[in-house]
Order: sequence, then C-alpha cells, then structure tokens
Amino acid sequence: MADKGGMGESPGLVRLLRTAVGLLLAGMLGCRSNLEELDYAFPSRVDALVLRVPDQVPEQATQPGHWEAELNLLQRRGGQLVRPLDLPLEQRLAVDAALKELFGTPARPRLVTDSPAKELLGLTEERLSQGGQLYRRHRCLQCHNVTGDGRGPAGQWVTPYPRDFRQGVFKFTTSGSVKPRRQDLLRTLQLGLKGTAMPSFALLAEAERDLLASYVTYLAVRGQVEFEALAALAGQPCGQGVEPLEASAVAEWMARRLTAVLTAWEQAEQAVVVPPSPDDGPPGSPAHQAAVQRGWVLFTAKRDNSCISCHGDYGRQPQLRYEVWGTTARPANLTDSPLKSQPGAEQLYARIRWGIPAVGMPAHPDYSDRQVWDLVRFVQSLPFPRELPPEVRMAVYPDSGGP
Ligand code: HEC
Ligand code: HEC
Repeated sequence: MADKGGMGESPGLVRLLRTAVGLLLAGMLGCRSNLEELDYAFPSRVDALVLRVPDQVPEQATQPGHWEAELNLLQRRGGQLVRPLDLPLEQRLAVDAALKELFGTPARPRLVTDSPAKELLGLTEERLSQGGQLYRRHRCLQCHNVTGDGRGPAGQWVTPYPRDFRQGVFKFTTSGSVKPRRQDLLRTLQLGLKGTAMPSFALLAEAERDLLASYVTYLAVRGQVEFEALAALAGQPCGQGVEPLEASAVAEWMARRLTAVLTAWEQAEQAVVVPPSPDDGPPGSPAHQAAVQRGWVLFTAKRDNSCISCHGDYGRQPQLRYEVWGTTARPANLTDSPLKSQPGAEQLYARIRWGIPAVGMPAHPDYSDRQVWDLVRFVQSLPFPRELPPEVRMAVYPDSGGP
C-alpha cells in the first residue's frame, strides 16, 4: 500500500525492527558455523513435567502465549506436576551431565549406546548432525525449539501449540502405540497438519525429510530419558517398567533407559498392523452404504466414551480434552474435510483401533475388524451428504432438505 501522508514513519520503523529481529534470529538460530564453533550444550529443562492431567473437562481452550500460566492451574484442578527446579541442584547437574554424555550437543548430536536400534532407526552421528542442520535451517526450531519442547520463539503464539517432543508421545501414528513409525513422521512432514501451524515440507527432498525424521526421533528419545530421570528423582517414576532412581546412580540409570526407549521405537517400527481393507465398493454402492449405516450406529451409540460423546454433533460441538502435555485438544469436526493428518482409510483404521492416547481418545481393542472398517467408511463419507444413506443424512444434516 502507498504511504499515507503523515504515517510514513511507522511502517519504516516496523520494517527496521523486523529486519533487526530477523538478523538477530538468523544469527542465533540459523548460523551453523557459529553454533558449531561454540558447541553450546542443550539448555537444562526447567519447565514443569506434567505427570497427570485433571480428569475433568477443561474450562477453556489453551490460549496462545499462556502455556506456562495454564500449567500452573492444572495442579489446582487435580493434575500432577513435577518442577525440575524443586530438585536439589546436584541432582539436576547430574542429569545434565549424563544427558550430555549420552546425547552430545545440538552441533554434535550422538547416541552413546550399543543398542542395535540405533542403526535401524537411522540415528548415526552423521545422520543426526545433518538432520540437526536441516532442523535449524528449515525453521522447525522456530516452533519446536532447540530441545524439541515446542516453545520456540514463534511457537508460543500459535494454537494448537507445536508438539513438545520430550515425552516421546505423538498423535498421528499407525504403530498401535504413541511412538510413530518412520513413515508416520515422513507423512506428517510431507503433508503437514491441516488447520494447524505445522506446515507441509513437501518441497524438500525425501532424503532430507528422512534426516529430519531422524533428528525428531533423537530429540524425542533424549527428551523422554530426561523426563523419566527428573520424574524418578522427584520420587514419581512414570511409565511401565521404570525403576526407582537413586541419586547416586543417575548416569547408569539413564543409559539403561536410553536402551529401553530405543527398543520401544524399534518395536513401533516393526509392529505389524493395519489389516487389508475389505472391498465395500465405491461410495454410494449398496455395500458401502450399509457399512456407513453400521458405522453411524456405532458412532452414535448411547454409552460412555462413544465417539459422539466427545465429537458432539459429529464434531461441530466438541467437548475439549486435556492432552498429556497439559494443553487442550479439540475433538475433530468430522463434518470437515480434510482432517489434521488427512488420514486415508489405513490411518483412520489406526486412529479408531488404537485411539489417540495423547488426547485421551480411547482405543477399541474390543471391536471386530469389520466394526472398525464400518466406522472408517462412516468417517470418510461424513463430510459428503450425498454419500450418506438417507437416514444418516437426515441425522447429520437435518437442513439438507430430506432424502
Ligand atoms: C510454524 C510452526 C511450526 C513449524 C515451523 C514446524 N512445526 Fe511441527 N508442529 C507444529 C504444530 C502446531 C504441531 C502440532 C499440531 C497439533 O497437534 O495439532 C506440530 C507437530 C509436529 C509433529 C508431531 C506429529 C504427531 O504425530 O504428533 C512433528 C513430528 C513435527 N511437527 C515435526 C516438525 C519438523 C521436523 C519441522 C521442520 C521441518 C516442523 N515440525 C516445523 C508447528 C510447527
Ligand atoms: C474421549 C474423547 C474422544 C472420543 C470418545 C473419541 N475421540 Fe476422536 N478425537 C478426540 C480428540 C480430542 C481429537 C483431536 C486430536 C487432535 O487433533 O489433537 C480426536 C480426533 C479424531 C479424528 C481426527 C484425526 C485427524 O487426523 O485429525 C478422528 C478421525 C476421530 N477422532 C474419530 C473418532 C471416532 C471414530 C471415535 C469413536 C470410535 C472417536 N474419535 C472417539 C477425542 C475423542
């Protein structure tokens, strides 16, 4: 827009400030040689660990810029937090020293372990160092931050917040667990997450996305080992098979946890999962319509934790949920298309069968494969009134003018 007389000064100033901030950020974050020369350590974790979120429904959605303030409210509402700064200094220093020994620094990332999973998951030093450079260059850092805590300079101002990788928990997986397979990370990077700030990185070469996936895995493993150590030192060992921790044995304990966490990633990678999809014919065909109809009945069943209890009015009136990070999630509006992860049939199967534990969406181990596929057909056709059998269309789109 052309200058309007008298206001010429402020856009210039804004531009100047923007340039100054840009240069500063580039200097701090983008400049590889700088980082490598200085070999900064990862900063110590000081933000609260969320061990348990309140059972009740959140009062309101997490507001941009209020993450820390809202964490403080969790405890009052029945959540459980551990504050690293409440631990004795020497224990925190011992954790930091062990982390540095096992995982290196941002410029020289490594994993010190004999676990064969390290090679299998592509976590060699060379790949991690290349992945780390891409992570800084392609702005992951600005949202997900140096340690992967999701609190980068831009991250605090977007909701939903960027993923905090440090619990090793992901949402959009096909492994049957909270650990993603490589192909899940690659899909997220390729497609982005619709309706959120997470962009698509389809323009990068596939090999680059693969290196980024390795670096995300590394940050997630590092963050989880740190999380577990801090929780255990606070007397709250979390997760299955996590032993109590004596303050004198921090380094060995963390080395053992590193191996265990890598094994969990390896198992996710190798999990055999989604069965082949039955042939229900094209949308609109009799078999397909029958499947959609059965899916609708399941979706709207009157019992606790049925789909519609969270995805109220098919997601147009969702009931907020706490996420494991203490932030809030909004159950998807399933009449909208596309959904965040733009799930195909196979991913919808995975989401419905194993739920999204990070947000408390339940798994359904009790459903037959046929029932899960019926729900998949229903969810896939839901945004498209013409694909719905008349009774379902009237229920979902009462204003659609009848069958
Ligand atoms: C502008 C901010 C932004 C940038 C830049 C960004 N992300 Fe994200 N990312 C997000 C947000 C927001 C989410 C979480 C969305 C949600 O949960 O609804 C996310 C989620 C993720 C997830 C988790 C997916 C899951 O299954 O839980 C991964 C992995 C990820 N990002 C990797 C990356 C990588 C690697 C880069 C750089 C190549 C990157 N992101 C750049 C904002 C960003
Ligand atoms: C306890 C609450 C709850 C229940 C019950 C529930 N969901 Fe969800 N669901 C959620 C939340 C919360 C999200 C949003 C996750 C996010 O994007 O952060 C979600 C997201 C989804 C998504 C979108 C995934 C994407 O890629 O964006 C689908 C599909 C879905 N749910 C289907 C179902 C179906 C089908 C059922 C019943 C079998 C069901 N949900 C039951 C809470 C629930």
